[in-house]
Order: sequence, then structure tokens, then C-alpha cells
Amino acid sequence: MRTNVVSSVCFLLLLELFSSGAGSNVTDSNQLYDDLIVTAGYNARNIPSANYSVPLPIKVELSLLAINELDDVGETFRVTGYLSVKWKDASLVWKASDYNGLYSVTWPQKDVWHPDITLSNSFLDYQQVGDDKLLLYIAKNGKIYWYPFQVFHSTCSLDITNFPFDEQSCELQFKAWSYYTSELDMTSDGVYLGNFEASSSWDIVDTLGYTDTNQEEPNVRFRITMKRKPLFIIVTVVFPILACALLNICVFLLPVESGERAGYSVTIFLALAVFLTIISTTLPANSEKIAIFSVYLIITTVAS
Ligand SMILES: *[C@@H]1O[C@H](CO)[C@@H](O)[C@H](O)[C@H]1NC(C)=O
Ligand SMILES: *[C@@H]1O[C@H](CO)[C@@H](O)[C@H](O)[C@H]1NC(C)=O
Repeated sequence: MRTNVVSSVCFLLLLELFSSGAGSNVTDSNQLYDDLIVTAGYNARNIPSANYSVPLPIKVELSLLAINELDDVGETFRVTGYLSVKWKDASLVWKASDYNGLYSVTWPQKDVWHPDITLSNSFLDYQQVGDDKLLLYIAKNGKIYWYPFQVFHSTCSLDITNFPFDEQSCELQFKAWSYYTSELDMTSDGVYLGNFEASSSWDIVDTLGYTDTNQEEPNVRFRITMKRKPLFIIVTVVFPILACALLNICVFLLPVESGERAGYSVTIFLALAVFLTIISTTLPANSEKIAIFSVYLIITTVAS
């Protein structure tokens, strides 16, 4: 209930912010662009804070839409989402009454200063978030709202000890690449899961947004903790292996005179060896941690 009230208040505020005012038309927004950008000599290269002795506060929130893949073998993490980045530009302030009540505009991001945020633990090349075609919302008090959308592909080292009942934590680490903490003060607004589409193989257990204060660059990190949905692995791998292990013990029920014991054992050994191969192709080639399940499988294979 409380969240409903909060979200409807937010919605009304957004409506007020982003519907550009009652009596205004394109003449007014042209005039505003001329006044703020052209006449005032706005320069999108400079940090727009009112006082350079104080770092410009920037709030970053991650809205997660979907987990595309957590690759066990390559140890990479791929999600779809967008950042909600908010800051205040001291040069882009106007009085709505001077422009027939125009209280917000939507301009291309290249016209206005914005932080060069990048995914610093990216699995791919350096790639700045946002795009020159992307627009940002500017409210009359200078508040700027920027929503760069992207498929984020990061590295993520896995601890598969408890496979397939494991929990994994992956981080998306964002950095304003070219600035120092004395210039920008980037803080996290957390992870928003309101539009998250449930994944078929992972449940989100916990999320955390924080800033690593040991870094020289302004940064925010979002940690996502997930639990594997183990049903598929249980049905296709764990259950057949347990059945093999049971059959393995039954070898002693065969009468010695039948001469079948050796053949029976070898058959089960081969079946287990096949499963060992399957398991080793679904787990990371990681020598630091080894799944207890793999160890069990190796022991069973040897014992047979
Ligand atoms: C916008 O409105 C003003 C009056 O408020 C009018 O003079 C002007 O022609 C209008 N501009 C356009 C492009 O319709
Ligand atoms: C800028 O901020 C510093 C530190 O807070 C303060 O000492 C200084 O007076 C400020 N300058 C102006 C022009 O506001």
C-alpha cells in the first residue's frame, strides 16, 4: 500500500516534470535553447557545478529488466537494463513564466554535459553508456534525468562448490572514466526490480548498490546475488548418477558363477564417465574451486 502511494506521488511528479507546460509551444523551446545554449555560450565539455571546490553530486540507479545469461563456463554475466542518472546543471536553470510556462525540455545528450560512465568490469571493449541519439530530460530547476539503456556484459567469477544448489554474486561496476572523486561525487540509488522479468534459471536473492571509496575515480557498483534453480540439473544429471551409483552396489547381488560381474561393472563405469564429461563441460574451467558434486562423481567412478 505504502509503495503504491509513493509510486503514484512519483508518477504525478514525473508527469509535472516531463509534460512541458500548458501554454508553451515550439517557439518557446527554441527561444529557451537560444538563451541557454547559444547566447549564454553553454559548453558541454565543462562540468556544470556551481562551485568547483565541491564535487558535483550524481545519483545512479540500476533498473534491471532481465538476466540474459550467467555463463558458467566463460564466467561472464549478461543483463539487460538501464541506468537512471540524475544530477543538477547549474547553467540550465530558467523561469517557467518567461517561456509561457515551459518547465521541461528533452534534448540530445550531446548538447549537454554528462558523465562518461562506463562498465569497468566489462567483458567487451571500452564502451561508454548512452548514445548520441539518446535524449535527456531537463527540468527548469536544472535537474537532469538521463536513462542510458544497454545490454551489460561483465565478468563474474563463480564459486561452484555447492553446484547445483549454489548462490552466485555478480557485480556491475560503473566508473566515470575520465574524472576524479574531487570533481564528481557519484553515489548509488540502489537496484530497481519493478520491471524485472523473472529468469528461468536464476532467482534474485539480494541486491546491493554501493561506492568503492578506495578508488580514485567516481564509481558505483551494483551487486546482484542469485540462486540457481536446480530442477533441470537434478532431473538430467543428478538423478541418473544416483541411479547408477545404486546399480553399482547391486553388482554384489550377481552370483559369482554367472561371470557377469566384470561386464556389469565396466558398463556402469562407462555410464558414469559419460556423466563426468557432461558435468565438466557445464562448469567453469576453474582450478581454484571444484564442485563437491564433481568430486563425488569422480570418487563413484573410481570406486566402480
Ligand atoms: C506560439 O505561441 C505564440 C503566442 O503565445 C504565437 O505568437 C506563436 O506564433 C506560436 N508559435 C507557433 C510556431 O505556433
Ligand atoms: C565554494 O566552496 C568552498 C568550499 O565549500 C567555499 O569555501 C567557497 O566559499 C565556495 N565558493 C563560492 C563562490 O561559493
